[in-house]
Amino acid sequence: MAGELIKVCRCDEIDEGKTKSFMINARSICMAKEEGKIYAFDNICTHDGGLLGEGVIYDRQIECPRHGARFDIATGQATQMPAVVGIQTYEVQIEDGEILVNIPE
Ligand code: FES
Repeated sequence: MAGELIKVCRCDEIDEGKTKSFMINARSICMAKEEGKIYAFDNICTHDGGLLGEGVIYDRQIECPRHGARFDIATGQATQMPAVVGIQTYEVQIEDGEILVNIPE
């Protein structure tokens, strides 16, 4: 596993169905929890820079609050126009209730 594991926050600091955004190594990264699972992905929409952390999550997708593009939060794939380019997702590990995210170098 290449990259650096960085501790972000405790699992219980992210509410079910909600997001929380962090600056990690100069990247704006959004964390989300759905059905108890934690996901990490770029906070910036590939369509026109909308903040995905201000969007809504459902069916393992985040909807951009600006123009409604959607992305799969596990794979990063764009699933609804107007975005056609996916977002980067990050591997997440949980240790003793803490969330660690693998940030590529
Ligand atoms: S900026 Fe996200 S859909 Fe346009």
